[in-house]
Amino acid sequence: HPVLVLNGPNLNLLGVREPGIYGRDTLAAIEARCHSTAAGLGLRADFRQSNHEGVLTDAVQEARTAHRGIVINPAGYGHTSVALRDALAAAGVPVVEVHLSNIHRREPFRHHSYVSGVADAVICGAGAHGYSLALTHLARLLEDAR
Ligand code: DQA
Repeated sequence: HPVLVLNGPNLNLLGVREPGIYGRDTLAAIEARCHSTAAGLGLRADFRQSNHEGVLTDAVQEARTAHRGIVINPAGYGHTSVALRDALAAAGVPVVEVHLSNIHRREPFRHHSYVSGVADAVICGAGAHGYSLALTHLARLLEDAR
């Protein structure tokens, strides 16, 4: 099974959206990076993005049987979504949370993430490289679990 790399709302606008905060890499560039990082780790990445909380929740539920682990950038829903957190808690596979920006250096409402309490690891502030770090750590968790 592949690993799921799941991206939340507005990340489809990366590259043009607040580049001073999120960088100039597009989501397509991040996807390409994820595929090459995953290949180097002997994994396959199923890379997705949605602006819809329910679609993201469905994807996490699907991962219970279709994916070996989850890398998730919940974007704004990290700060609001109990539903997404509950789905991740029930996923039964390792979860690594990623944020491009350092959410702790930003507005107070970004300091809390509902996802962090159910994630095995959290990576924030490393920009697009954070996805590679997350996949690398996920590979280690999968290796440890064997
Ligand atoms: C983000 C940080 C969130 O606070 C924000 O709502 C996003 C992107 C990040 O990757 O830095 O949309 O998750």
